Amino acid sequence: MKTAITEMFGIKHPIIQGGMHYVGFAEMAAAVSNAGGLGIITGLTQKTPADLANEIARCRDMTDKPFGVNLTFLPTVNAPDYPGYVRAIIEGGVKAVETAGNNPAQVLPFFKEAGVKVIHKCTSVRHALKAQSIGCDAVSVDGFECGGHPGEDDVPNFILLPRAADELEIPFVSSGGMADGRSLMASIALGASGMNMGTRFIATKEAPVHDNVKAAIVAASELDTRLVMRPLRNTERVMKNDAVEELLRIEKEMGDDLKFEDIIEQVAGVYPSIMMEGEMDKGAWSCGMVAGLINDIPTCQELIDRIMAEAEEIRQRMNAISQD
Ligand SMILES: Cc1cc2nc3c(=O)[nH]c(=O)nc-3n(C[C@H](O)[C@H](O)[C@H](O)COP(=O)(O)O)c2cc1C
Repeated sequence: MKTAITEMFGIKHPIIQGGMHYVGFAEMAAAVSNAGGLGIITGLTQKTPADLANEIARCRDMTDKPFGVNLTFLPTVNAPDYPGYVRAIIEGGVKAVETAGNNPAQVLPFFKEAGVKVIHKCTSVRHALKAQSIGCDAVSVDGFECGGHPGEDDVPNFILLPRAADELEIPFVSSGGMADGRSLMASIALGASGMNMGTRFIATKEAPVHDNVKAAIVAASELDTRLVMRPLRNTERVMKNDAVEELLRIEKEMGDDLKFEDIIEQVAGVYPSIMMEGEMDKGAWSCGMVAGLINDIPTCQELIDRIMAEAEEIRQRMNAISQD
């Protein structure tokens, strides 16, 4: 399948693995890229720009295919060393960057000059148009279903994607709720040039996370995620667990007075224990509703091959319908 996205990133299949905190290590990105998609290292999971440079080098040892780096702009007072991360990406020869969080205008000129393609992940048509206007090469349109931060508009992909298609001139991929060949063909039907997956890629053999995390995703249904931090306008879709129940109890109790400090125990610095040690009730961790569609733990190659085979089968079924 050749689309604007496969051409832009030099990949075989129009499938991207979204940046994921404490999941997007070199092993994850290389496995997706080796399987013909675009694997992405999560920049800020690396504590310093030097660590990111090292992770990029490790990934290059594991694949000769293109891979990218995610740079998330967090709403924090003590900003990470973004110029340092940008330098590590450019000097590491990476040619694809997924930006997310805030508008990437400040870093865009450096990437443009270095010939790095930028795909900005956003959750609304207005943010997608903004990304287009400042010169992003593509956008990843993240619907309400998505694991992580769905924004505050709550528009699901069956509306958001065709709305994006109606407004955008640059190519875009669907994101949020994508799992299989049906997702890919539906995305194409709704105007996307490919799809981005997060949660689905965690439940793969190569994902460098504890087996408990993969098992939790396989066991979960589409009813098992919760939205947290809505009162702070920093909504995150997470897997329900004991810590999330407690977090929601605190949110209810504090109402409009809720401050980040009230829930710090449930949300700050919990990823290493969850992803590395498999302590599943340690805190809130991002997970999409798509968990309901995930029932196995294939290799990335098996997953992507299966998606492309399903997509082809759907294409044939559609052709048969139109010929009747
Ligand atoms: C565990 C986890 C961690 C994530 N961390 C980040 C992150 O650090 N930066 C980011 O831009 N997106 C992050 N995301 C969002 C994904 O890149 C992707 O947009 C999202 O998972 C798509 O929805 P899906 O899970 O339904 O496929 C994360 C998602 C998950 C599940």
